[in-house]
Amino acid sequence: MTTNRRNFIRSTATAAAAVGLAGPLNAGRWVAPSDRINIGLIGARNMGFGVLQKHLDTGLVNCVGLCDVDQNVLENRAADVLKNYGQKPRLFNDFRKLLEEKDLDAVIVGTPDHWHCLPMVYACQAGKDVYVEKPMANSIEECNVMVKAASRYNRIVQVGQQQRSGPHWQQVNRLIKEGRIGKLRKVNIWGNFNYGIGQLKQPDQPVPAGVDFNFWLGPAPQRTFNPTRFHGSWRMFWDYGGGLVTDWGVHLIDMAFWAKDITTPPQTIMASGGNLSFGDYNHETFDTMSVIFKMDDFTVTWEHTAGTQKGPWNKNYGLAFVGDLGTILVNREGYQVIPEWDDRLKQPKTEAEESTQGGEHHAQHAANFVDCIKTRNKPACPPEIGRAVAVAAHAANIAIRSGAGILHWDEKTGRFTNSREANQLVVPEYRKPWELPRI
Ligand SMILES: NC(=O)c1ccc[n+]([C@@H]2O[C@H](COP(=O)([O-])OP(=O)(O)OC[C@H]3O[C@@H](n4cnc5c(N)ncnc54)[C@H](O)[C@@H]3O)[C@@H](O)[C@H]2O)c1
Repeated sequence: MTTNRRNFIRSTATAAAAVGLAGPLNAGRWVAPSDRINIGLIGARNMGFGVLQKHLDTGLVNCVGLCDVDQNVLENRAADVLKNYGQKPRLFNDFRKLLEEKDLDAVIVGTPDHWHCLPMVYACQAGKDVYVEKPMANSIEECNVMVKAASRYNRIVQVGQQQRSGPHWQQVNRLIKEGRIGKLRKVNIWGNFNYGIGQLKQPDQPVPAGVDFNFWLGPAPQRTFNPTRFHGSWRMFWDYGGGLVTDWGVHLIDMAFWAKDITTPPQTIMASGGNLSFGDYNHETFDTMSVIFKMDDFTVTWEHTAGTQKGPWNKNYGLAFVGDLGTILVNREGYQVIPEWDDRLKQPKTEAEESTQGGEHHAQHAANFVDCIKTRNKPACPPEIGRAVAVAAHAANIAIRSGAGILHWDEKTGRFTNSREANQLVVPEYRKPWELPRI
């Protein structure tokens, strides 16, 4: 960003703050392209592109670069940007080339989880701010490295846990902190989704035209191409993702930690589960899981049954915050305060309430990132928050994968205290020439 553009953006931010403008700083005012933030997208097929659109919708952002290792995705998304926004980004297959662009201010990382750490860290080193999708990374050590990179290179980093920017989630957080349900003792969380069993098994196949599969694999082990472990469905394979608990779990478990402003992983994690069903579907991550996170003065539980979408309270996913006076039931559709009954006073222990004003909240999260690029304030989901919940979710998987069942986490050493097998899964092995950055 040129000094003039930086100054303009800062002064716009200050003026906006002075008149108390909420949301995007342009507040409906047209901002000249030369005064907008220049953003690039790495990983353009699905969520990355969705997030890019929310940034472009603010009117405060230019898309100057698109990068993908699938040429078909790249060309289709370039056409979408031209058609919907009248902009013609430069196209890249190698994110390192995109990061060399002098006019680039920030990047969105919308690649599969095994490809979050390197682009994020390299972007920080190149002086760019970063919006990185959740879970922050595919291993505990990558999360540690990313927290250090954001701090060392003094970058604004927003993790894509967009519920933190959602008004109804913020309202639930407020209600709990104001004592609406009394002492919070337990948070029960569940996420039952059909997609968690992956796709029907298929044999390996030739790599599709236009795909640089070696680059797609990146630091993950070399293997032949199989469509059931590629676009979208990579989530169900350890080399690239962690299954439902890291995919949906981080969004929901994040809300439980936020209720008590927890910024470090839990000390004790207990997990049971495995692959118990749907053997004709291709997945390595667990289709069935029950997890207990033991917190200082409350308990958080996570449950999933992939491929079976029924759930508690007749919802396939959600959280129940259980307090002495009542329960708050919440998911993206809205929330409900359900009072306990006071037998002595013959009245509810707290006031009932219901809201159906939910939503997805990617737009608010993108707007918050853009604001923070300008003001240099801490974003709604900074890296330490992304790390705490990603480490918790990875630890739950590791508890089962290692056979330990119960794990004790030592935040000081960054290792589990009771399982050598579990500690072997903390640091990923990168395939050459890629190397896990040291910060
Ligand atoms: N915040 C949310 O609500 C939300 C929702 C869905 C997905 N996500 C996250 O977004 C990320 C992407 O998920 P998705 O569903 O879009 O996956 P996807 O498989 O649909 O898209 C990923 C894209 O990244 C590209 N890619 C892979 N390696 C690359 C590299 N080294 N350089 C450039 N491009 C590369 C792929 O070719 C593909 O086009 C994941 O981390 C996922 O967890 C977040």
